[in-house]
Amino acid sequence: MRIGILTGGGDCPGLNAVISAVARRSWDHGHELLGFTYGWRGVIDDTTTPLTREVVSGISREGGTILRSSGDNPAHGGDRPERVMATIRKHDIDALIVIGGEGTMKGALTMWRDHGLPVVGVPKTIDNDLPGTELTVGFDSALAIATEALDRLATTAESHDRVMVCEVMGRTAGWLAMYAGIAGGADVILLPEMDMSVEEAAAVVMKRHGQGRDSSLIVVGEGYDLRSTTGLFDGVDVEQQLDAYGYPRLGGVSTHVAGAIEKITGFETRVTILGHTQRGGPPTARDRALASQFGFLAADLVHTGDFGKLAAHVGNKVTAVPLEDTEGDARVVPESQFEFVRSFMG
Ligand code: F6P
Repeated sequence: MRIGILTGGGDCPGLNAVISAVARRSWDHGHELLGFTYGWRGVIDDTTTPLTREVVSGISREGGTILRSSGDNPAHGGDRPERVMATIRKHDIDALIVIGGEGTMKGALTMWRDHGLPVVGVPKTIDNDLPGTELTVGFDSALAIATEALDRLATTAESHDRVMVCEVMGRTAGWLAMYAGIAGGADVILLPEMDMSVEEAAAVVMKRHGQGRDSSLIVVGEGYDLRSTTGLFDGVDVEQQLDAYGYPRLGGVSTHVAGAIEKITGFETRVTILGHTQRGGPPTARDRALASQFGFLAADLVHTGDFGKLAAHVGNKVTAVPLEDTEGDARVVPESQFEFVRSFMG
């Protein structure tokens, strides 16, 4: 078989480990691999790169993606699907392995369901919000980075009697904020999913300081809706530019949270927005292992002709689920977790 492979959407640590695992297993099965560059755009525009043993050797530990990435995908319409099929025919591709998050999987589903392209998906995103799987490649690495950042912020906060507000990525999902907040010992954890006002957050800080603590750590998910019971955010317009594909570009909500906390508590409050540091650098061992399991399974699914599937992590097992399971709203932190999160605050 000739197998195409691409990485789409925002990059994350662990993508190269997936590519490497797919390659090794596919070669063992006697198949050939062709890389498409810049995600689906490479299939639409026919830009490829050879994936030889030399190219793939030693990439598992590297961050980013040797295939590069973009957010374009065939679900964006126009003549994209037809162009994808033309490229697939031109290169005699028998199957395509698509590594990506929500947008990239929409493209995969469009091509599988509406155009009969044999695809297999592998989930990645630091947000961990793709429906159909409980774990995505990249999440563990971003979590480790955010947790380390909180550890560092905690010690400098203590030295200067400051409140530190740390903003993490995740869009509408609070997985990163929740687990980094718990692991990094944050005193307040503001999730997009949880209805917690800035006054409540300030009350937690005041209580701590009333009990003899001189510093506090607040973690906020970038998708947190500014909530105030006293109108502190009236008139505040969190600037939301759209990216090239119509997704809101998040980041910066913590600045408003910090201003309000300082106003209510009177304590000096500083802001750190982790941004893309969460997506860069080498993957954790856990991400390398997960990426390898997903890549191995994806290659086997292709080998056995089991298309329209996603290599997923469900119930603590790596298993194949229908690609359709990735449809629908983002997988966010459920209400059943709120009490658990609250128990770590203060
Ligand atoms: O979806 C992954 C993610 O890193 C989000 O957490 C973040 O909001 C977004 O991508 C940033 O996208 P970009 O790199 O296009 O600014």
